[in-house]
Amino acid sequence: MGVGVLILVALVGIAILRQGPQATPLPGEPLNQLGQARGIVVGTAVRSQVLKAKRGYRELIAQQFASLTPENEMKWEINEPQQGEFDFGPGDEVVDAAKSAGQVVRGHTLIWHAQYPGWLKELGPKRLAAATKEHIAQVVGHYRGSGVVNVWDVVNEVVADDGGLRESIFLRRLGPGFIAGAFNAARAADPKAKLYINEIGAESIGPKSNRLYEVVRGLKAAKVPIDGVGFQVHSNLGGLPGDFVANMQRFKALGLDIAITEADVGLKLPPSEADLRRQARIYGRIVRACKAVKCASLTLWGFSDGHSWISETQAGMGAATLLDEQFQPKPAFRAVQRALAGS
Ligand code: G3I
Repeated sequence: MGVGVLILVALVGIAILRQGPQATPLPGEPLNQLGQARGIVVGTAVRSQVLKAKRGYRELIAQQFASLTPENEMKWEINEPQQGEFDFGPGDEVVDAAKSAGQVVRGHTLIWHAQYPGWLKELGPKRLAAATKEHIAQVVGHYRGSGVVNVWDVVNEVVADDGGLRESIFLRRLGPGFIAGAFNAARAADPKAKLYINEIGAESIGPKSNRLYEVVRGLKAAKVPIDGVGFQVHSNLGGLPGDFVANMQRFKALGLDIAITEADVGLKLPPSEADLRRQARIYGRIVRACKAVKCASLTLWGFSDGHSWISETQAGMGAATLLDEQFQPKPAFRAVQRALAGS
């Protein structure tokens, strides 16, 4: 066997080894099938780099989920790093993975006060308004053709904890109308996609969710094309507020879809067995709250403790997902299965 062939065989072998082991199938019925039986699209945030590098991760994601949310790949700083220069590569990788597994994609996120490119800061109000409209037209238009991006988080985290509108370059330079403008631009680019407003820390009834309610009610009254409200549910061992379901129900009563969009339950590291059991109970409550309002979708913000923003951004915290770093199920995985399967 020639040297060239030997080198090729060695390179293929290294590539397979780097991809890691095949995934051990998880026990019980897959989450997507359990959700589908109850009209809930069960999904997870994913990272294109990990999908490419880890065969086990990719296989588990395909086995367990009906929907993917690109954790960062469709954010403005990634897909339009310079004005007018679009890079859909990273987002397309997530879309391609979804296509090959028969999944849909939640587009995340068009307008956010974070992870936008620096060149926006150089624009005055008129140019920023035009750039925002063009960005949404190009991004939503690009993914409309994919046939799998059927939902968008159009605006993300626009309400502050105190109940005011969150300070951002968009609010400062465009005024509150930037919210309706983003929805109108997204609808113009895709007549069918479901358009969501997505919020963090708005699970309980209080100043933040009351203002979100007023914003959404105002959009509906003005016939702005909004279809749904996303509650992110980044939780911890403090658990869910007791009025979470009642809170979501009032938004549903406006004629909107409800989604849980970024569920995770962060733990102090290292978690005890009792912590893991409490985490499981909280995940079970998240699923039951979703079912109580007949939510359209339930998305986890990551599926393995080794790929979670919690441990990357919150010192001393982590272990926030359903699988450990070796993709083995934690008590939270079984709790989500039981809660989805329960009556
Ligand atoms: O891509 C760069 C890489 O080139 C560089 O070497 C590396 C180190 O600086 O940073 C990489 O970018 C990181 C990016 O994730 C991609 O991994 C950013 O620093 C990091 O800040 C960014 O964190 C993301 C965070 O949003 C940004 O605020 C998290 O992964 C992501 O899970 C998190 O997700 C948000 C949702 O979009 C909205 N809701 C809240 C949620 C948590 O903040």
